[in-house]
Amino acid sequence: MKVEDRIISARRQGDDWQETSLRPRSLAEYIGQEKLKENMRLFITAARERGDSLDHVLLYGPPGLGKTTLAGIVATELGVGLRVTSGPAIERPGDLAAILTNLAPYDVLFIDEIHRLHRTVEEVLYPALEDFALDIIIGKGPSARTLRLELPPFTLIGATTRAGALSSPLRDRFGVVARLEFYREEELLEIVLRAAKILTVDIDGDGAREIACSARGTPRVANRLLKRVRDFAQVRAGNRIDGEVARAALQMLEIDVLGLDQVDRQLLRVLIEKYGGGPVGVETLAACIAEEPETIEDILEPYLMQLGFLQRTPRGRVATALAFRHLGLSTAHPAQETLW
Ligand SMILES: Nc1ncnc2c1ncn2[C@@H]1O[C@H](COP(=O)(O)OP(=O)(O)OP(=O)(O)O)[C@@H](O)[C@H]1O
Ligand SMILES: [Mg+2]
Repeated sequence: MKVEDRIISARRQGDDWQETSLRPRSLAEYIGQEKLKENMRLFITAARERGDSLDHVLLYGPPGLGKTTLAGIVATELGVGLRVTSGPAIERPGDLAAILTNLAPYDVLFIDEIHRLHRTVEEVLYPALEDFALDIIIGKGPSARTLRLELPPFTLIGATTRAGALSSPLRDRFGVVARLEFYREEELLEIVLRAAKILTVDIDGDGAREIACSARGTPRVANRLLKRVRDFAQVRAGNRIDGEVARAALQMLEIDVLGLDQVDRQLLRVLIEKYGGGPVGVETLAACIAEEPETIEDILEPYLMQLGFLQRTPRGRVATALAFRHLGLSTAHPAQETLW
């Protein structure tokens, strides 16, 4: 099974279409990320009071933590329009020019996967972000001239799972750069209970907590697990989710108490059993579990590092004593001593 299709993958999947109904619509409904919310609330208020556009915002962090959701909320709270696109969708500079010239004053333009913008498109964006202007080249060769076109003021919200992949001229043009953090268990519990209410699922506190614990810090995963556990409850448990039912359902899905599934465990096992806990290069690990190195870096590793199971070192990936223990393996390898 590909990492993308795992039930606990934070990436968007086919049946996540219901996400729209679960998506919070205001900062007040947006659970967690307290510091970020507080900052955004202040910037939004300041921009509204000045009658100015909000500074450009870059949101980065692992998938499913609420970047797209937050962009929508910012537009709503500013009381402006939202235009949504993504880096790879903008193929030519002209496509971006068309989007920009069609914005209403103060609108929010959301560009998802902004690290995947084509270089030529990115160059059109620079003057647009800095001066609200488009530089258009007319003609070819020696007679070519540039024409500067004024744009309405707007706010760009860029989202990326890999801030490191952004060129520095682009990154420097964002006034606000914010990292989304994995959610705490209490916050995920609240998210599960909120989603259960919207989807009219009968669940108690223990059931919700089981799901929250296994949601790997990610609201999208929490919502998805809730739906799968609901299926289980419908067929096997009279449509009611309590702690026991949730545990049984998660067990059937082979998701453990920390939210790790087969693929996570396979990665750790390769690292530990084949390479004595590391250090091992990410390419080698990728080859061993038949995944792309980017998938390991963007999707698998962030949560394993958050758990303290894995470290990135200059010489490669290293499994910690916690990872050994979680898999029920002994930490007898000498290379691990330093990490205890
Ligand atoms: N703070 C939150 N409170 C409640 N629900 C949330 C929150 N953040 C995200 N969600 C839920 O998680 C789902 C996924 O969020 P979202 O699509 O915004 O993630 P993302 O960071 O944009 O992911 P990607 O990197 O894949 O684009 C939303 O549909 C929403 O239901
Ligand atoms: Mg998104």
